[in-house]
Amino acid sequence: MIKIAAIHGSPRKNQNSDTLLAAVLEGMELEKQQVTHIYTAAENIMPCTACNACLKQRGCVIRDDMQEAYKILDEADIVITATPVYFHSVTSQLKAFIDRTQAVWGSKYVLESTMISRKRRLGFAVCTGGPPEEKSYFDCTLKVLDIYHKCINAKLVGHITVADVDNEHVKDREAVLEKARQEGQKLITAYKNT
Ligand SMILES: Cc1cc2nc3c(=O)[nH]c(=O)nc-3n(C[C@H](O)[C@H](O)[C@H](O)COP(=O)(O)O)c2cc1C
Repeated sequence: MIKIAAIHGSPRKNQNSDTLLAAVLEGMELEKQQVTHIYTAAENIMPCTACNACLKQRGCVIRDDMQEAYKILDEADIVITATPVYFHSVTSQLKAFIDRTQAVWGSKYVLESTMISRKRRLGFAVCTGGPPEEKSYFDCTLKVLDIYHKCINAKLVGHITVADVDNEHVKDREAVLEKARQEGQKLITAYKNT
């Protein structure tokens, strides 16, 4: 069974980025039990404190919901991460989640005992922005998401970016939803063919 981790960065549930992520999942035609959702705003995920304990022993010493998230990421075959653009980056809730994958980085490059297996794992990013199309608004966000996927041993194979959501909600844009479904279909096919 292909396992999917769906990481939600928005503090607003079921809004634009969540709707777009749902459309990507719909295109993948999965069974419900294949998908594990992490709503970062609803989790108790503390920011990284740079204590560097993860460079001395495997794992993060902060005992919060991130411990379960590490397991979900490790088990996932495909990780899909959705975020609204906030100040050209990801939301602070998602940034806390991403920064805590520093423990994975430490386990790989300092301790040489990776917390997240190096099995075949694909990644996909979903980003929404408020104002009308300005391609560069997504550049920094995609860079953040790129390095995070490398850290968690996921090959980022695609992304969908949608602007102008503050003027027109994603749920009212059938062409955009259809594109997201197609991206989902491409993603699952890519996984099966790799
Ligand atoms: C604090 C904050 C910062 C934002 N910064 C940006 C930005 O830099 N670029 C942009 O395109 N949209 C920006 N927006 C608009 C959001 O990206 C937009 O409302 C969001 O994509 C909606 O996603 P959601 O409905 O899933 O929460 C910002 C919104 C907030 C609340």
